[in-house]
Amino acid sequence: MSSGVSARGVQLSLLDYLSMEKNVVLTHAHDVAQIEPPVAADWTHEGRRIDSERRLARLACLLGTPDYSGPLSSDERDERRLVTEAQGESIAPYLVEDARQAIREGGDPLGAALCALRPAIERRADGAFYTPSAIVEAMAAWLLTHSLSRVVDPGCGSGRFAAAVARKQPDLPIIAVDTDPLATLLTRATLAAVGARNARVVQHDYLTLALPYDPGRAGYIANPPYIRHHDLPAGAKEWAVAAGKRLGVSMSGLSGLHALFYLATALSVRPGDIGCFITSAEWLDTGYGEVIRRLLVDKLGLQTLNVFDARAVPFADAMTPAAITTFVVGTEGEHVTIDAVDTMESLDLGVVKRTIERGRLADARRWSPLLRHDDPLPDNSALTPLRMVARVHRGVATGSNSFFVLTRERAERLGLAPWCRPAITRAEEILSAGGVIHDTPQRRLLLAVPTGVDRRVYPALDAYLAWGEQAHDGKPPVAHGYLASRRKPWWYLGPVAAPPIVASYMARQAPAFAYNPDGLVLLNVAHGIHPRQPFDDTRVRGLARQLNDARHLSRSRTHLSWWPGEVRAARDGELAH
Ligand SMILES: C[S@@+](CC[C@H](N)C(=O)[O-])C[C@H]1O[C@@H](n2cnc3c(N)ncnc32)[C@H](O)[C@@H]1O
Repeated sequence: MSSGVSARGVQLSLLDYLSMEKNVVLTHAHDVAQIEPPVAADWTHEGRRIDSERRLARLACLLGTPDYSGPLSSDERDERRLVTEAQGESIAPYLVEDARQAIREGGDPLGAALCALRPAIERRADGAFYTPSAIVEAMAAWLLTHSLSRVVDPGCGSGRFAAAVARKQPDLPIIAVDTDPLATLLTRATLAAVGARNARVVQHDYLTLALPYDPGRAGYIANPPYIRHHDLPAGAKEWAVAAGKRLGVSMSGLSGLHALFYLATALSVRPGDIGCFITSAEWLDTGYGEVIRRLLVDKLGLQTLNVFDARAVPFADAMTPAAITTFVVGTEGEHVTIDAVDTMESLDLGVVKRTIERGRLADARRWSPLLRHDDPLPDNSALTPLRMVARVHRGVATGSNSFFVLTRERAERLGLAPWCRPAITRAEEILSAGGVIHDTPQRRLLLAVPTGVDRRVYPALDAYLAWGEQAHDGKPPVAHGYLASRRKPWWYLGPVAAPPIVASYMARQAPAFAYNPDGLVLLNVAHGIHPRQPFDDTRVRGLARQLNDARHLSRSRTHLSWWPGEVRAARDGELAH
């Protein structure tokens, strides 16, 4: 073990280091708005030089893939196919050199290109939101304050963590794994560019990857994919139940893939191993998060916890608050250390400031109240959590808004108006509604066809759905999209109920509520609030008003308050359970 250099270059003494090993640091970061956009995004767009995934794959090959970071194995068939398909693309040598230079200087032009080329909705299906470089650097710096025999980068994406490690220690063995073959190609290329000498990139599912035995101390560093439980393949759920049994924890059926990554890591670590993970922060307080909290306290040796404020947006394109944990397997200190970090500049995973008994974490059903040291939670006895009076559901995810959302004029022209309902399609509509949201002639419509409809009886509808079943402009049919292909029939969006109250939660703003008297349906840009008891219109209107009144007083003693922790829970629909 060495004393080391923190994210901000602060030298830690051996004493600091040892005290860190015994404690858990809890921090609450308030302001991360200054997190920069993806590195070298301009490089991607300039002149549209890398304007397809195939050209991106070719660029990766020219940077050193596929022979780099271990030859492609027979399992890596998809990578091989990408390499073959890309062979015909020609990329100017200066572009290759530009990319190499940018990577060496700490950028990730390949990952930025992938994010620019692949729509967010597709990346969401893979949980692929890459980590901003300031956070990557802080996490890698913490990891490398330890003397390691290898680094494991699960869900490596374009290899941001692996590259940050290899830039500092090119000889350190690295295993980077991702299911996305283009991502692993990019990781190979990035590691080649930074001169990693001992890296192995594997295209595989992390949950079932058997890591080679290593007697030394491994460091795990990850931004596990955030894929919600409804979108997990059945195999992953079965794996989780079995893995939970092996570890003596019971898995909630509501666990997302990020929880399963924690589980896989807990299965593979040995005493002394360390880790640093960034995830959505919602597991701090939700029911399914219990398994992560248990694993961190009982098995992984939680050492520090940094939570970004709910108003901040650590991931420009994912809109979710984030939590960074560090852990040292086998840590048993009685006290844990907590701290407040107010700005990104002061985020330093290696500095210890406030402490709390580890047992309090073990006992607490929610962790975010423990983080609010300077702003105590309201007395819960004086508050009614929103979930006691209402169910909160996210709006409808269509998988293709360009197909399912229509202007009124278009719906009428295509003869689809009878199948459409006025909809809230942007969060801003709620924010600017002033507490009551209405239908207007400009409002867009959602194509919400009931499941039992025999489409052949309605030629206009049938023609439109048939159009969605064909490829257009080189794009695959809407019916083959990720969500559509999982629905039966693909065009049935499920029961679409108009919520009596709608709520929008946006970064840097208190949530806003609006009474919805005209029965607008809601896309997944916001949440719908459905009172558990039958409420007449006056009471619903009153509830919406109370929620809006309480939004700025979220920590004061109002009768009915909206607490940011509840908002996070609401984001996963957990309040409904
Ligand atoms: C949130 S991204 C993080 C990427 C990168 N580590 C970073 O921080 O920039 C999660 C990555 O996990 C990958 N992934 C999703 N499911 C996976 C699985 N079962 N096994 C391995 N990787 C997976 C996605 O393809 C995506 O690249």
